[in-house]
Amino acid sequence: MKNFKRHTITAALPYANGPVHIGHLAGVYVPADIFSRYLRLKGEDVLFVCGSDEHGVPITLKARQENTTPQNIVDRYHSIIKNSFEKFGISTDIYSRTSSPTHHTTSSNFFKKLYDDGLFVEKTSDQFYDEDAKQFLADRYITGTCPHCSNDRAYGDQCENCGTSLNATDLINPVSTISGSKPIMKETKHWYLPLENYEDFLKKWILDDHKDWKPNVYGQCKSWLDQGLQARAVSRDLDWGVPVPVKNADGKVLYVWFDAPIGYISNTIEWAEKNNKNWEDYWKSEQTRLIHFIGKDNIVFHCIIFPAMLKAHGDFILPDNVPANEFLNLEGDKISTSRNWAVWLHEYLEDFPGQQDVLRYVLCAGAPETKDNDFTWKDFQARNNNELVAILGNFINRALVLTQKYYDGKVPERGSLNDFDKDTLNQLKDCKAKIETQLDQFRFREALKEAMNVARLGNKYLADSEPWKIIKTNPERVKTILNISLQISANLAIIFEPFLPFTSEKIRKFLNLEIAGWNLLGNDNILNPGDNIGTPELLFSKIEDSQIEVQIEKLMKTKAINAANTKQVPVKEAINFETFSGMDLRVGTIIEAEKVPKTKKLLKLKIDTGIDQRTVVSGIAEFHNPEKIIGKQVTLLLNLEPRNIKGIESQGMILMAENSDGELIFVSPTQLVINGAAVK
Ligand code: 2FM
Ligand code: ZN
Repeated sequence: MKNFKRHTITAALPYANGPVHIGHLAGVYVPADIFSRYLRLKGEDVLFVCGSDEHGVPITLKARQENTTPQNIVDRYHSIIKNSFEKFGISTDIYSRTSSPTHHTTSSNFFKKLYDDGLFVEKTSDQFYDEDAKQFLADRYITGTCPHCSNDRAYGDQCENCGTSLNATDLINPVSTISGSKPIMKETKHWYLPLENYEDFLKKWILDDHKDWKPNVYGQCKSWLDQGLQARAVSRDLDWGVPVPVKNADGKVLYVWFDAPIGYISNTIEWAEKNNKNWEDYWKSEQTRLIHFIGKDNIVFHCIIFPAMLKAHGDFILPDNVPANEFLNLEGDKISTSRNWAVWLHEYLEDFPGQQDVLRYVLCAGAPETKDNDFTWKDFQARNNNELVAILGNFINRALVLTQKYYDGKVPERGSLNDFDKDTLNQLKDCKAKIETQLDQFRFREALKEAMNVARLGNKYLADSEPWKIIKTNPERVKTILNISLQISANLAIIFEPFLPFTSEKIRKFLNLEIAGWNLLGNDNILNPGDNIGTPELLFSKIEDSQIEVQIEKLMKTKAINAANTKQVPVKEAINFETFSGMDLRVGTIIEAEKVPKTKKLLKLKIDTGIDQRTVVSGIAEFHNPEKIIGKQVTLLLNLEPRNIKGIESQGMILMAENSDGELIFVSPTQLVINGAAVK
């Protein structure tokens, strides 16, 4: 890898319309923090930037619901989020906000430069407008009847019943979800960034030059690029955001995804002004390494659209890496703000005061680095009790307590080393390279495992040497054992600084260790004989079953509330038996499954019905991976009139049940039956 002189590390700017939860921390902020701390410990020049993303339609809607202003909403959540991050030791050099004057100027100038260079396309189109709310409506804020399946609760971008992607203009009887009124069509002008003009550049830059990116990131970029890029509107009709800085653009603001990533630059400018630095060094020098930490839903914006914007502008460096993570689930279900299915950081702090490092540890150990992962309270408890308490805490505590007891709190001299000592110290020496290999490749889970292995090494060394048994007979040997144990403890203070900063600080305090640079790692002479050791306190405490039960109960309550709020499907009118028996329902087996290109929700399935093999298009892609459902028996409505969905003739319909989280579950026989078996 190229030798960089400095590093600009960004973590996705969270929307200031709600507090942050464990999914945010695990996916973005803990990894970004570990990486920044690691580089700082190595003495590198690091700038870690973050801040609140304070524009966009959802914030205006929340303000409307609460009968207040968007500024009030973002003020409230900006301070909650900022406070949570501080409490969890997320060591940003600046945490600012996109409603700041610096950001307005920076993003406005950015737009102006592209505008003046003639890089936007100006287009006029008809869009839905809510005359009561006096605003244009994003597709998501319009509902109506689906022209394909007659579902009367289809959204303007998609019918969730039949899975078809829609344009809001396709809906029958469209209604604004904001005011409930019927929207009118109104002409509006917007500026578009013609992404197709950057396609060749992006293909080379990502697909050829960045094969080193994580497979999940590279794969998603490839799929976008393979589908072909299209112009994207970079402005919106809204009264909240950065005004479009050109003539005749009243009531128009920059699209939130245009201004938000520029927030990284604005926040750098703000930081530089306060700290007497040159911001351009961090954004315009080829010797600077730019890294974006994000979640997987942000990949296209950070790998395709923002780089196209930076390239269009011309003055800026592009990201060297975008180590995006997948999603963290909670107790088997998707984390959801609207359903309150989350562990909120501010609530965790109330329930587990002073135990931020425990959560950091568990979230890093189970980070969704290569695939979605699940957080469970049982696992949280087990990792705390069996790893943090039993290994790391236990080892440090014993080393310190024994030193207090036998040597009056002073680091003892080391005598001659036996083979066990030498082997232990050799293993200690190797830990630096092992952890670096993992951290340099953004494999934080593995890096943490290596760090924990050093604590295991210390724990085993002390347990096997049993100094308490030989203190009377061989005090010289005990001196060596404790000296080595304390040197390992000093190493642990360094190793864990990026992962568990509060714990590392406590260990350093116990050891009276001031300087703890990464380069000391592996060294077995960090402490000098005669150095004073402080009074130890327990680093971690056992988490009891009762504490976990409280948390699980809290989630159960949420589940019950959600189930009660689940939209009740109204009872339909009675039908006679003939109507029912007119439906040809049968069991079939899925023999092929693939995603329908350019749709998010549709799968094209081939079903063996026992009579024939037929194609069925089904809106289940969000919930089922095509590879995993092959061979599955399903129930099929065979004699539904064929329908054309996205150019594919769908010959029938698969029956699905919707659970309280809105997920679609197959209705399948509980035992294997022959294909074609009638469902009566
Ligand atoms: O997904 C989100 O939460 C966005 N607010 C992330 C923005 S990242 C950057 F572009 F600012
Ligand atoms: Zn439909």
